[in-house]
Amino acid sequence: MSIISNCTASVIKDAAAALVKGDLVAFPTETVYGLGANATNKNAVGRIYAVKGRPNGHPLIVHISSLGNLDKWARDIPEYAVNLARAFWPGPMTLILPRTDLAKNFITGGQDNVGIRIPSHTVALALLKEFEDQGGLGVAAPSANRFGAVSPTSATAVEIELADYLSESDQILDGGSCAIGIESTIIDCTQSKPLILRPGAITKEMIEAALRISINVRISSTEGKQIKVSGLLESHYSPKAKVFLTGSPTKGDGLIALDSFNTPKGVIRLANPKNNEDYARLLYEAFRLADSKGVKRIFVIPPIGDGIAVAINDRLAKSASNYEHT
Ligand code: TXA
Ligand code: MG
Repeated sequence: MSIISNCTASVIKDAAAALVKGDLVAFPTETVYGLGANATNKNAVGRIYAVKGRPNGHPLIVHISSLGNLDKWARDIPEYAVNLARAFWPGPMTLILPRTDLAKNFITGGQDNVGIRIPSHTVALALLKEFEDQGGLGVAAPSANRFGAVSPTSATAVEIELADYLSESDQILDGGSCAIGIESTIIDCTQSKPLILRPGAITKEMIEAALRISINVRISSTEGKQIKVSGLLESHYSPKAKVFLTGSPTKGDGLIALDSFNTPKGVIRLANPKNNEDYARLLYEAFRLADSKGVKRIFVIPPIGDGIAVAINDRLAKSASNYEHT
């Protein structure tokens, strides 16, 4: 496995060729790093599951470079979904749409719909474009972490997560730290109205403003919950340390809170974001920092309000619920 930090045109060309050939390429997106495989190659996609330790039947998002390729993967696309795509792609949004025959069961987990995203990170877009120029149709990419663990927001974090599981010819493209820091908003577009399955940086308010309708967020959203992977899904987004959303830290504990909160004496400050966008960007790196420092308990003062705070609180609830379920 090689880590490549200067993503020149020739690096992108080689990485796209590696994908076409069936190797895995981890790449930066604006949300989190993805572990990419050629979405039409069953063996390559199978390796994603092996490297992540992910249960079979858990669907993958297909990444494409432009709207022109959407029809290859999705059919019967509702008008509101086209409007969402026009408003927010390239960007941190995944649309769940009825699938075409190209989206096989090994991508969709046997469901009749498929998740599609056009990311906005320049390295991701360049890689997808080059991959398509070389004959590829889409790149399946889950977050580049072991199953149940925290999504990586830097190439170093990908290396820590997956180096032991990747093969010699696999690659990690380093595109710096992710600007958004939490995974894309997932929107179910298979019904008459859109439904947010996983909140993210494209917020309910943004979607409502773009479509001029009111929409719902699935309560206690655990994306993919309708998919039968019993008992495992709640333990997402978890560091090794135990996460507390209430109570007060004491000496040796970690603390994540907005900058306006002081750090009690002896407590290890893991992040002090200035605002909620900053909070999202720094959260997973703060979890990793806790684990690297051997911190056993992380106390979090959750952000309040609408917008991206909803997505942050969704991830915080999941990371904290781990210990009620295992
Ligand atoms: O920001 C992101 O979305 C990142 C970057 C790499 O694009 N990807 C990501 O993928 O977070 P992953 O696999 O870690 O999480 C995607 C979630 C999964 O929980 C899966 O269940 C859900 O999306 N999902 C994918 N396809 C689906 C489908 N057809 N129906 C319902 N849920 C789906
Ligand atoms: Mg993930």
